[in-house]
Amino acid sequence: MNGRYILPFDTSTLPVIDTDFLVIGSGSAGLRAAIEANKHGSVLLMTKSALKESSTRYAQGGIAVAMNVDDTIDFHVEDTLKAGVGICNPQAVQVMVEEGIERVAELIEWGAQFDKEGDTLGFTMEGAHQRRRVVHRGDATGIETTDALVNHLRKQKHVKVVENAFAIDIITEDETCYGVLALVHDVVHWIRAKATILAAGGLGCVYQCTSNPDVATGDGFAAAWRAGCEMMDMEFVQFHPTTLILDGAPHFLISEAVRGEGGVLVNIRGEQFMGRYHENAELAPRDVVSRAILNEMQSTGFPCVYLDVTHLSPDFIQKRFPTISRTCGHYGLDITKDLIPVRSGAHFMMGGIRTNLNAETNVSGLYACGEVACTGVHGANRLASNSLLECIVFGSRAAESAVNYARRLDQKDLERVRVQSESSHSITDSFDVECGKEKIRQLMWEDVGILKSETGLKIARDVLKEMNQVRSWSSMAAFEFQNILDVANLITQAAIIRTESRGAHFREEYPDLDDVHWKKHIVLCRDEQPRLVD
Ligand code: SIN
Repeated sequence: MNGRYILPFDTSTLPVIDTDFLVIGSGSAGLRAAIEANKHGSVLLMTKSALKESSTRYAQGGIAVAMNVDDTIDFHVEDTLKAGVGICNPQAVQVMVEEGIERVAELIEWGAQFDKEGDTLGFTMEGAHQRRRVVHRGDATGIETTDALVNHLRKQKHVKVVENAFAIDIITEDETCYGVLALVHDVVHWIRAKATILAAGGLGCVYQCTSNPDVATGDGFAAAWRAGCEMMDMEFVQFHPTTLILDGAPHFLISEAVRGEGGVLVNIRGEQFMGRYHENAELAPRDVVSRAILNEMQSTGFPCVYLDVTHLSPDFIQKRFPTISRTCGHYGLDITKDLIPVRSGAHFMMGGIRTNLNAETNVSGLYACGEVACTGVHGANRLASNSLLECIVFGSRAAESAVNYARRLDQKDLERVRVQSESSHSITDSFDVECGKEKIRQLMWEDVGILKSETGLKIARDVLKEMNQVRSWSSMAAFEFQNILDVANLITQAAIIRTESRGAHFREEYPDLDDVHWKKHIVLCRDEQPRLVD
């Protein structure tokens, strides 16, 4: 199959590493899956960087969970469905919200220390929640969650962690997965597994401006697509309204909880503007706030707006948002006195590898969970702080499914598998992959971003097509380039097809919701025509 694998290989000549369960990715979904799978066999958890480096680590706001006294499962389900604008999978939402309570309690049991008010958990407010329901540790909930999961993982006897290992492609034969082709210590290996759990995180780095860490280059999405997985809702990329915009600083996330605690947005003229756009003002859905910010930037001709917390007590700010205060301080900004320059950045992918409630994909032996997966739980827009909840709930479920599948397999079933990819293409070392990545990021930001026009989308499609010559690659940077390119193609293709505006997907020529034609999901699969499913 043309371009099926991005590297020529023959499994019979590759060094092999055997494991019962392979987990790809060390964010909260991968860590939770590995902990669960450990009870049933050997687990190899591979991660492209360090064990603790993932999008989870950078999560600030917290974990939404219906544990507050005045909250209920029904309220949380209702808010999640409303944020998803009519296309959430209601069963997936019910599962996440219900099981989430047990999964968060378990995290606390494993050592996560979330902020308390007196003797009980403290809950913060974020956009589009009707109750205060977000548990958090200051503004560094991701670090707390990662540390608790990693500490617990280290107590598990059967988990082997391999850091700085890159999953290049998923190895399949007859639509069944047998592990991955992986770069481990610069040598291509076959990591051969009875069951593979893909928890490789997000794709923010497909865009020029993103809140995501550098590792989020869409590798899991791209490898799954090349392997024949169905990809759903790829047009729904969420842009977080507030990332830091300062010369020399990264696009550091300024948590929605800052607005939840009273922070206000002002334009360069000092005007508070969100009230003109939505009745919930600063706590309107993220897509509304992102578009409002863009509009203010365009109408004032200034490249950012400002987040103002100077009316809040300095003590409160420093105690509640120590990471944000410290990071801004590092770049010369005292947020108790200075306005914070912000604009939106790519933040979260609602779509991904289509799975059922048990994290099963259409490829046997391959499971997906966390941001790379799409159960439909977020619909067209994710509710703030539902992402870590999704990861721990479906991470655990993915492992249970993988265990049930692997039980039916014998090691001999794996040993008879031989897969070859006879790429006739020479390795393209002369292509400047960093320059290529930058070109795609700029294109996606300008033409497939917060506002999408027919003309812009078609320009993007054509430029991406031109870049998409079949090549063989030999380095991690080059594999990432190919992954960014594949994922950019999928997002653009789906965005062209959806001729309406819904949640995070906004088409200038089709600004309205069109439930009659579009209360559906777009499914893309290699070598098949796109199709619509309910
Ligand atoms: C934030 O802290 O604003 C990000 C949390 C999220 O994406 O849900």
